Amino acid sequence: MNTKIIYLDENKIDESQIKVAGEILHKGGLVAFPTETVYGLGADATNIEAVKKIFEAKGRPQDNPLIVHVADFESIKEYVLEIPNIAHKIMEAFWPGPLTVILKKSLKIPSITSAGLESVGIRMPANLIARELIKAAGVPIAAPSANISGRPSPTEAERCIEDLTGKIDCIIGGGSCQVGLESTIIDCTTDPPCVLRPGAITVDMLRNFDERIYIDRAIMKKPELDFKPKAPGMKYRHYAPNAPVKIVCGDLQKTIAKINEMVQNYMDDKKLVGIIATDETICQYLQGEVVSLGSRRHIETIAQNLFETLRSFDDMKVDIILSEAFDETGMGIAVMNRLKKSAGFDIIKV
Ligand code: TXA
Ligand code: MG
Repeated sequence: MNTKIIYLDENKIDESQIKVAGEILHKGGLVAFPTETVYGLGADATNIEAVKKIFEAKGRPQDNPLIVHVADFESIKEYVLEIPNIAHKIMEAFWPGPLTVILKKSLKIPSITSAGLESVGIRMPANLIARELIKAAGVPIAAPSANISGRPSPTEAERCIEDLTGKIDCIIGGGSCQVGLESTIIDCTTDPPCVLRPGAITVDMLRNFDERIYIDRAIMKKPELDFKPKAPGMKYRHYAPNAPVKIVCGDLQKTIAKINEMVQNYMDDKKLVGIIATDETICQYLQGEVVSLGSRRHIETIAQNLFETLRSFDDMKVDIILSEAFDETGMGIAVMNRLKKSAGFDIIKV
């Protein structure tokens, strides 16, 4: 398949190009596009054949439901049965933005989109290219992250191009994704609502609207063998670069010492080691391929750079990746959730 590649500037969107891409979606084709979280791989959420193609292009397991993206508040009413009060409040507060709200779905959302569930995740992205594209398509857009299943989500157009060229109709490049981690998912089909995936909209921010909101405990732990998470996607190996990842966790000076010791051992075995460091610590690693995610004082920057850094280690063809850990507070919860999954929960405590 010939993949059309379009580059757009979010601040000066070329409407004629958006129209072309919107038409592809409207006709049942696949278009990858930027959002503020990660790049998405879109199809008409109401078109069974189109949605099927998403699963095929990504190699995604069929039991993993897709998030439906909308461009305005009005249109969601058609796709859900009810909007509880609390859902109303948080959508009003955080949309457009990096938050997915799970609601009871209407019959207009086919079962393939929700992977057989009675609910549907809905999100209104903040990125203007994304919203203009959804408007141009004239249909709600089902969009998982635009990566081959299992790999770290793309936060740069080049990564979509790498994963999906030849497999989809069109890729819209629109620069780096600002947030860098996928949207927070909150399930509002239960009372109190429950956070199924942490993200930039933190649990503390959500609790301002209902202090009973809690985070599904299961998602921060290593899944048991028979684990059935409420967000089916959370059970799969995820965000994984080619090389295994190990996280060293504990006092920062002890972490650095431990990583340096491990690097030496791997190098003795002729292994190429990648190190995920921070601005505060990078000088203390004397060997290995060291990349800083940014300053520990800006967890948002760390989040923004995480997936791209994991992917850059694939380019460097490292044999093993060692990472520092981050405090599990605020957005650090989301960062550690993705990092632990990329490591398959291989954590060394110091
Ligand atoms: O930021 C994002 O949400 C990005 C961009 C493209 O919008 N999309 C994204 O989609 O991360 P994806 O498919 O990579 O992750 C969707 C997650 C999966 O873990 C899935 O199981 C969960 O959302 N999910 C979707 N619908 C659900 C539902 N009805 N109930 C529970 N979990 C659901
Ligand atoms: Mg994904």
